[in-house]
Amino acid sequence: MSWWASAVGYEVYIRSFADSTGDGVGDFAGVTEHLEYLAWLGVDVVWVTPFYPSPQADFGYDVADYTGVDPLYGDLAEFDRFVGRADELGLRVMIDLVPNHTSSEHPWFKAALADPASPERDYYIFRPPGPGGGPPNNWRSHFGGPAWTFDEASGEYYLHLFLAVQPDLNWTNPAVRDAFDDILRFWMDRGVDGFRVDVAHALMKHPDLADNPQILPLDRAATPGQAMAAFDHVNDMGQASTREIYRRWKSLPGADEKALVGEVYVKDLALSASYLGDGGLDLSLFFALNRREWDPVAFVEEIRAWSEVSDNGFAWTMASHDENRPPTRFRGGDLGRARAFTLWTLFATLPGLPFVYQGEELGLEDGYVAPEDVQDPVGLAAYAEGRDPCRTPMPWKPDRHSGFTTGEPWLKSAPRRPEETIAAQRADPESHLHRFRRLLAVRRELAPLRTGGVEWLAAPAGVALVRVGQVLTVANATDVEAEVGLPPGGWSLEFETATGGDRVESGTVTVPPTTARIYQASPL
Ligand code: GLC
Repeated sequence: MSWWASAVGYEVYIRSFADSTGDGVGDFAGVTEHLEYLAWLGVDVVWVTPFYPSPQADFGYDVADYTGVDPLYGDLAEFDRFVGRADELGLRVMIDLVPNHTSSEHPWFKAALADPASPERDYYIFRPPGPGGGPPNNWRSHFGGPAWTFDEASGEYYLHLFLAVQPDLNWTNPAVRDAFDDILRFWMDRGVDGFRVDVAHALMKHPDLADNPQILPLDRAATPGQAMAAFDHVNDMGQASTREIYRRWKSLPGADEKALVGEVYVKDLALSASYLGDGGLDLSLFFALNRREWDPVAFVEEIRAWSEVSDNGFAWTMASHDENRPPTRFRGGDLGRARAFTLWTLFATLPGLPFVYQGEELGLEDGYVAPEDVQDPVGLAAYAEGRDPCRTPMPWKPDRHSGFTTGEPWLKSAPRRPEETIAAQRADPESHLHRFRRLLAVRRELAPLRTGGVEWLAAPAGVALVRVGQVLTVANATDVEAEVGLPPGGWSLEFETATGGDRVESGTVTVPPTTARIYQASPL
């Protein structure tokens, strides 16, 4: 069985995790120093967001050198120390690979611009203007505006699905494929256990670069999200040929032991699942709850549908560095937190690899960033508040800047309350942190009993009753009590999100609102 089959992951957004130098930006030494905390929490694999040399236009998702470390975060020796310490603590390491686009500061793109006859020109997607002199097709950038920018010097446009300083690579070019084989080998040789593949659904584009069909009206005031939603993205993403790339990566020597986790940012279940197994990816991140307001009936249905399509293929997430934190999205405060935790308990029982986003274990809501302090390019484009609220510094202790830095944080935000910090929650056995840790411990303890497939049993709408081998989870995501019939036999309660207690139950049980329980089979 692969190591990731029963693991729990943790996403470190490196800029905001821990700053060891006082420059206000998190770094590798900061992560290394706090690995003991992650081991204590009970996670198995740490995914670190991009740390490569970068102009930081999209905070590292604009890579200028795929085999280096930006001096902001340390150097290769610090990276090695990080991997070494993780190893000592029994933690695995995953890194973020950004293959869809480079930074415009990458030497390949500079060469491509400097000389249209250079081999690097074909590393990217340059095209002459369309018939009216405008962009070659109607594709939009995720971050606003057309997906094409005009290069005056050559009279051609180049493609970028994100910022203009993030030009898309041409994955039909064998030289690009070879270059990435080397990049993967480089990091595998340095001891990484896997890759989170950024924008995994869009590497290949339709060969004709045809227009996307428009499915909704589009007015000038549309936000980038609304503009994207106005089109059916059949040509700029979701191409079947993208799977060849993942199959190729999995066939590199040693890669069968490395987890390939795709940021398959699609809500379509069949499309997402098509990248698994034969599609080359080991896991695909679950985005069905992403950016959605609380809807218990729909959420439980989504989780059920996805879990039934693939055994072990989804990396369960409800939080990341790209969206508002779940307790905030789920109406805030203790209720939002309890709702998120109820669903997390379900994630923790299902086969697959759940990921904790830093601070999720504390039950954190979004941080507050004043309009004049916004840093995210999406927020700066003034379309919306952007992604800063989920990226505010990790609160370590009730101190100036919550112990994140001795300097001034790169992202200014309102101070966290003392009870939100790790130090305070570690000291309080009743805290969210302790309950979260207990959940991870129960997942680990019961792993040998969670064998076989997932069975969803009859339960009211908005309630999940799921059996995996000898383990039974009931998650009542609704705001009312639920009567649930347990399968025959006795069930001993191993975990409860709310109060807890040792008891064996059978027959019909009453589950309070916004509560989940994990049982194991036991004689009556
Ligand atoms: C992914 C990342 C996001 C980034 C984008 C472009 O969605 O998670 O942070 O902005 O890709 O690379």
